[in-house]
This record gives sequence, structure tokens and C-alpha cells, in this order.
Amino acid sequence: MKAYHLNSHAGAGRLVRADVSKPEPADGEVRIRVEAASLNYRDLLILDRAGESELNGRVPLSDGAGIVDAIGPDVGQWQVGDRVAASFFRDWVTGPFKSSYVPSSLGGNATDGMLAEYVVLPATALVPVPPHLSSLEAATLPCAGVTAWHGLVTRGAMGKGDLLLVQGTGGVALFGLQFAAALGARAIVISSSDEKLARARTLGGSILINYRDTPDWDAAVMKATGGAGASHVLELGGPGTYDRTLRSLASGGKIIQIGVLTGFGPKPDLARLQWENADIIGVTVGSVEHFTAMNRFLTDHAIHPIVDRIYGFEDVPKAYAHLRSGSHFGKVVVTL
Ligand SMILES: NC(=O)c1ccc[n+]([C@@H]2O[C@H](COP(=O)([O-])OP(=O)(O)OC[C@H]3O[C@@H](n4cnc5c(N)ncnc54)[C@H](OP(=O)(O)O)[C@@H]3O)[C@@H](O)[C@H]2O)c1
Repeated sequence: MKAYHLNSHAGAGRLVRADVSKPEPADGEVRIRVEAASLNYRDLLILDRAGESELNGRVPLSDGAGIVDAIGPDVGQWQVGDRVAASFFRDWVTGPFKSSYVPSSLGGNATDGMLAEYVVLPATALVPVPPHLSSLEAATLPCAGVTAWHGLVTRGAMGKGDLLLVQGTGGVALFGLQFAAALGARAIVISSSDEKLARARTLGGSILINYRDTPDWDAAVMKATGGAGASHVLELGGPGTYDRTLRSLASGGKIIQIGVLTGFGPKPDLARLQWENADIIGVTVGSVEHFTAMNRFLTDHAIHPIVDRIYGFEDVPKAYAHLRSGSHFGKVVVTL
């Protein structure tokens, strides 16, 4: 079968195509014929670290969906032909997060990902694809969709009357925007591009701010909301956005701390949290249980993920380059 591997050897490129043998499912495992995979910002960070020996030979990408193709012994819940998507953390099925789940993130330091024709995973690490979605659409859900869902809905309890602020128009941001619209919450979108802001309006964004033209977008948020601020902020930027996030927050508001788009290790002045009785919710993607709950919601509200561009398997390096350009609106997908 064909797959991509990360490559730590100089000269050959960081992403190499490989022909490897088809994996066989063992007890409790299922083999999936992957039909589509999607890219996340995380995959750029991992590609940048591909020179590290622990990543050598690793199959990249956490997100993929396809069809059950073979079943190992002791699997009751799946049949050949079922349409499934893989959950980001192979081992986080239900209950609260444990740091021991980290090595089981697909396409990370210690576990192969979804950019291969066939993938074997435990039966417990899969969810059914919502009936109204194609495999291509379902491949966008595991990281960006579940992160926005877990942060905003499961933990953040966003609902009617709330006001969400999303940063940019990438994968996590647009899922957040779509969830807000379906829940009856209003949304503020900040973006580098007026054209993207116009598209965000069609998805439910009602306060639209170009952060290039208006670098002090926190002041613009406060002005546009009559000083009230946002009840929920998807904090995607990190050090370059965190202080403005805090200054955009409503009394009793919630920061959903997710992103590192401007780097790691924000050192914000947290004094305002106390005076505004506000909360920070830290999120690392989510569990199979979160994924399943999100899929019910997507089905009930007939939500289709926003797919920006689709690449063929031979063009995977171009897909990475497109994501890195930041010109995308929503998700970048590879079909197998
Ligand atoms: N904690 C977790 O579990 C978790 C899970 C998923 C993602 N993440 C993180 O969340 C972030 C978003 O991930 P993603 O996959 O959705 O990324 P993405 O699809 O690559 O989105 C990138 C977009 O973010 C916007 N952006 C970039 N810099 C910005 C800034 N300084 N201020 C505001 N917007 C900015 C740009 O949109 P415009 O062109 O519209 O400005 C850019 O196109 C990343 O840092 C990622 O690592 C974390």
C-alpha cells in the first residue's frame, strides 16, 4: 500500500512516499481503507520537527476517514463496509483527560497517523461518519471540529444569547463559528482578509474586524459591543493575541485556550480575570465521547464542514504548502 512517511535524513525531503505492506488487524482492532485525510496547523509544527529521530518513518496527519475493510477477533461494534473516522487520541475514549493519552495522538511523536491507504486502529478509537457527510468532509472533524466542540460546548456551555470571538478563518475558528450559529449565539470574527470576513458573514459572523487594518482589535470588539465584550473567546493565537483576548472578554466570560499560531508560552497579565469573574478553559482536542456528541449535533443541524481545497495523494507537499500560506478558509483535505 502507499503511505507518506516523515523523513529525518537530510536531502530527501521531509515528506517521502513509501510502499509498505498492508497492516493486519489483531484482537480488538479494525483496518480502515482511508478515503480522505485533512491537515491541521499541528501538522506544520510536526513537519518542521521532522529532522528529529523519533519522528523518522512516522506516518503523519491525525485526521482521516474511510471504510472498514477488515476486522480482527473480538470486535463486535463494526462491520466491513462501515464508514468511520478516527479519533485524535487513540486511547482517550471517555471520561476526563489523562496525560498518559498524549503518546496516543495520531500522527504525533509516538503513533502513526492517517496519511496511508490502510490504517489499523483499536475498534474503540473510531466513530461512525454522520450519514449526511462524505468521507472527505468527515476527515476534517477529528482535530479542529472536536477541539472547538469540546472547548465551546462541552466545557464552555456556549448557547443562545452568547457572543463568541474567533481568531482567523482556519479550521478550528470556522467550526466554532458554525457551532455558534447553530446554537443561536452571535459571533465576532477577526481575520487578515476582508474577503474572508465577507465569507465569514455568510456563516453567521456579525461583527467583522480586519486585524491587519485594526491591530487594536480588542478596542474594536469593546466598541462594537457597547463595552460588553465577548462571552467566549477561541484563543488561537497564543502570545501575540492573549492580552487582547483578555481585554475583549465580557464579565463572567470564558477563554477557550487552544492555539499557538503566534508561538508558545503566552505570559498574559491575568489580573482582569479576577475582576471580571472570568475563566480560562484549557483544551487538548477531545475524546471519542466528545467526537460522538459533536457528530450528533452536526447531524441534527445538517452542518457541513467548510472545505477550502482538495489535493490528490501525489500532491501532499502542495497541501502542506497551501496550509502554511495561510490563504485557506476552512479545511485543507487530501483524497486517497
Ligand atoms: N489545543 C488543541 O488541542 C488544539 C487543537 C487544534 C488546533 N490547535 C491550535 O489552534 C490553532 C488553529 O489551528 P487550525 O488548525 O485551525 O489552524 P489553521 O487552519 O492553519 O488556521 C490558521 C489561520 O489562523 C489565522 N491567524 C493566523 N495568525 C493569526 C493571528 N495572529 N491573529 C488572528 N488570527 C490569526 C489566519 O486566518 P485569517 O487569514 O483569516 O487571518 C490563518 O489562516 C493552531 O495554533 C493550532 O495549533 C490546538
